[in-house]
Amino acid sequence: MSSPYLCDMPVLLAPMAGYTDVVFRALCVSFGCDMTYTEMVSAKGLSFGNARTETYLELGENETSVAVQLFGHEPALLADVAREVCDRLGPKLRCIDLNMGCPAQKIVSNGDGSALMRTPALAGAVVEAVKKASAVPVTVKFRKGWDSDTCVSFAKVLEEHGADALTLHARTRVQQYEGTADRSAIAAVKAAVSVPVIGNGDIVDGESALAMRDETHCDGLMVGRGALGRPWIFREIKAALAGEPYTPPTVPERLEIALLHAERIEAQKGPHGLVELRKHLPRYLSGMRNASLLRARLNEAKSVAEIRQLLLDSAKDATI
Ligand SMILES: Cc1cc2nc3c(=O)[nH]c(=O)nc-3n(C[C@H](O)[C@H](O)[C@H](O)COP(=O)(O)O)c2cc1C
Repeated sequence: MSSPYLCDMPVLLAPMAGYTDVVFRALCVSFGCDMTYTEMVSAKGLSFGNARTETYLELGENETSVAVQLFGHEPALLADVAREVCDRLGPKLRCIDLNMGCPAQKIVSNGDGSALMRTPALAGAVVEAVKKASAVPVTVKFRKGWDSDTCVSFAKVLEEHGADALTLHARTRVQQYEGTADRSAIAAVKAAVSVPVIGNGDIVDGESALAMRDETHCDGLMVGRGALGRPWIFREIKAALAGEPYTPPTVPERLEIALLHAERIEAQKGPHGLVELRKHLPRYLSGMRNASLLRARLNEAKSVAEIRQLLLDSAKDATI
């Protein structure tokens, strides 16, 4: 099976439940993101035809290279769902990614997400079953371990059972999102397997992207929180990788991108988009003058029209 990645050192947008919906993913692609991942999707939910779960499979027009990330732990069910996803999504689907890293209690208590790192034989069986059913490469995203460093032996199990590429978020489940990601664990996995390894954790700018590349020798870079409120980070990382100069967007440009984000969410979700906007928009304001006042006003806004006006006024003020 060929690599799921279309270029050398691809820069990928991490799956982030509640954030990386079709609107945000499309925005990141417009700034140079090479491949996007859906939010994690419950294999069981898809198998039941759950309407909300189905919305996770909507793809943006400019998304040409997408991974659908599934979570679950039952090999046969995951295989059936992977087959269906391949049939439905067609050529935009680059791979089926299996979530073996989610630390959330409600996920691990069912034996899903990072709980699979405690049951490597089952994790291997899941990969093998999905691989047999899938028309596209099968990849796995996992962590450094549950409460200790077990990622090398786990990676070998995944590779032996047919995984086509691996993404490592180098924190343990117990660490959740605390501390720093351990790049040496990614280097160790890269040295131990022959499939491509994507490095993930704490890439927040061009410098940290280069550090991830150089310290781990990984085959691709995955950006999560560093892209929230900063979808242009992909342009910055691409420039760093190419050794080219990079100029960050000005404050008015940042507000313009925030406005575009708001308008696209409104177009996609109508008035319900307000909830989404309250999550995303404050992140665009970090480091800006009067950010806390504007954040408070955005939070109190009762409509997308009001939000639009606040952003337009702030952009105008910032240019004066
Ligand atoms: C709000 C949020 C939601 C996340 N949802 C998922 C998910 O659905 N699937 C997954 O594999 N990882 C998920 N993650 C983990 C990220 O993909 C990524 O591995 C982690 O944030 C570390 O990368 P970063 O330091 O670049 O953010 C999530 C992280 C955050 C902060």
